[in-house]
Amino acid sequence: MTGPDHIAERIETAADALRAATRVAVLTGAGVSADSGVPTFRGPGGLWHNFRPEDLATPEAFERDPQLVWEWYDWRRQKIASAEPNAGHIALVELEEIVPDLTLITQNVDGLHEAAGSKHVIELHGCIWRVRCPAEGTVAENRQVPLSEIPPHCRCGSLVRPDIVWFGESVPGDAIAAACCAAEAAEVMLVVGTSALVYPAAALPLLTSQRDGAIIEVNPEPTMLSELTHLGLRGKGAEVLPQLVAAVRRE
Ligand code: OAD
Repeated sequence: MTGPDHIAERIETAADALRAATRVAVLTGAGVSADSGVPTFRGPGGLWHNFRPEDLATPEAFERDPQLVWEWYDWRRQKIASAEPNAGHIALVELEEIVPDLTLITQNVDGLHEAAGSKHVIELHGCIWRVRCPAEGTVAENRQVPLSEIPPHCRCGSLVRPDIVWFGESVPGDAIAAACCAAEAAEVMLVVGTSALVYPAAALPLLTSQRDGAIIEVNPEPTMLSELTHLGLRGKGAEVLPQLVAAVRRE
């Protein structure tokens, strides 16, 4: 069965599971910000269609050509600065107000969950609005758009880098530990807008599933996770999530 009635029915079933849960984990990826006009990485129009990650998102690329890497991040920062949280981000804030214990784990670096008002956010891949000085080991907020200096420097004179986890680097230990705890404890994990191709994030739903937690996926396309998913809600985050949260509220 396909069509609007079928989706409405699945949303009701997903809402029942969320309403019954005390502990919920939400895992988001680039798709949750697609409706805000922030490009995803894979798929048509995705960033990795036009750019090579090895030229822009590795420590080697930064060492080779910090100017190029920072020009790309400056361009992305400008795109994100003009984006607003969408109805999907806002629905997740409302869900946090309903569920007794909700942890939002995101792979996104755009800060749009925090801008929407989500409180318990674990950023697995860092944040585009922070810079890190490798010489001093310090991290600072930098929201200047566009940057006045490319590449930017620390007060100590060293080059700073985006505080982002690049390919070949590890997710910060405290972030992945907290994400694993939340995934293991969750009775329901809601997975929104990720292709589930990048680890360790992609393994988190397995932790929930291994402990008999339910996986609900919101994505217009099937993904690597779809086989593991108890309920697939095929659609855009900005459309499906508000309907889902309204259904959770209805009782
Ligand atoms: P991807 O670009 O790999 O996947 C985006 C997913 O969002 C796809 O499954 C799309 O079908 C889905 N999607 C597209 N539009 C959507 C919409 N309106 N609503 C809901 N879903 C939608 O992005 P990620 O899985 O987040 O790493 O990628 C993971 C990591 O790979 C990123 O964090 C990034 C990248 O390299 C770093 O920056 C470190």
